[in-house]
Amino acid sequence: MCPVLSLNNLALSKKKGVICSTVVALALLGSGPALAQAPQSVQQSCMVCHGQTGENTIYPIVPRLNGQQVQYLAWQLQQFKKHTRADQNAQIYMWPVAQALDQQDIQALAKYYAAQSPMHSASSPRPGVSAGKQIFLQGIASQGIPACMACHAVNATGRGTFPRLAGQRYGYMVQQLKYLHDGSRVNPIMQPIAEKLTIQQMQDVAAYLSGLH
Ligand code: HEC
Ligand code: HEC
Repeated sequence: MCPVLSLNNLALSKKKGVICSTVVALALLGSGPALAQAPQSVQQSCMVCHGQTGENTIYPIVPRLNGQQVQYLAWQLQQFKKHTRADQNAQIYMWPVAQALDQQDIQALAKYYAAQSPMHSASSPRPGVSAGKQIFLQGIASQGIPACMACHAVNATGRGTFPRLAGQRYGYMVQQLKYLHDGSRVNPIMQPIAEKLTIQQMQDVAAYLSGLH
């Protein structure tokens, strides 16, 4: 048997016989270069929830990571490690994971996920897309809400520590806007904006963004 299928274990696995090496070879063929370059923790941990390339297609509350801004990814991993990103799902799912990462791991993981082809949704459009588009591009003057694109970029591709939102999971974005709204996720830039959004407006803007490529 071959307990862990990763490049770093190949030497060990060889001792265990032909079946194991064949499985490793097939796994490598199937996933192409992405697997070959992936830091070891991707196979051992991250992929269970985020997927091998970061394109999570299973769990609504788990963010996609593929094509996310490299600086943003590294910054968030540091926040989980320092416990300064402390919303409930961060505590349950990411604190134990980030605990085990050192600065070198963080940089390698951020680079790996940022380099994957960008996240996108395959599901059909949700209601609220046109209202959401207006919020994203123009903001809501009557509520003092600025245009989201001012920071997240016109196509929502993000920039530096401003995250990419295009193609991100709908459920994840609504959840984060609620966390930022109620102050359980702390950020001096994004929090005052999320505080002013209604639940309906969060859903509309997330509907628009999740469908962007
Ligand atoms: C048990 C499931 C699970 C595992 C394993 C896991 N994650 Fe996560 N990850 C989550 C969830 C859930 C969130 C959302 C946390 C929140 O709501 O604050 C998250 C959030 C993140 C974020 C923040 C993304 C954003 O858009 O803000 C990054 C970066 C991240 N994970 C990277 C990783 C890396 C790298 C690994 C492997 C070393 C990993 N995760 C392993 C479940 C997981
Ligand atoms: C002044 C700049 C700015 C504006 C304007 C702005 N954001 Fe943000 N946004 C940020 C920053 C910075 C973060 C990252 C917060 C952090 O590091 O925790 C963020 C994070 C987010 C996240 C969480 C993404 C993730 O992967 O976890 C969502 C969702 C979001 N913004 C949506 C919006 C929406 C919707 C609007 C418009 C109503 C908007 N933002 C306007 C700066 C901005």
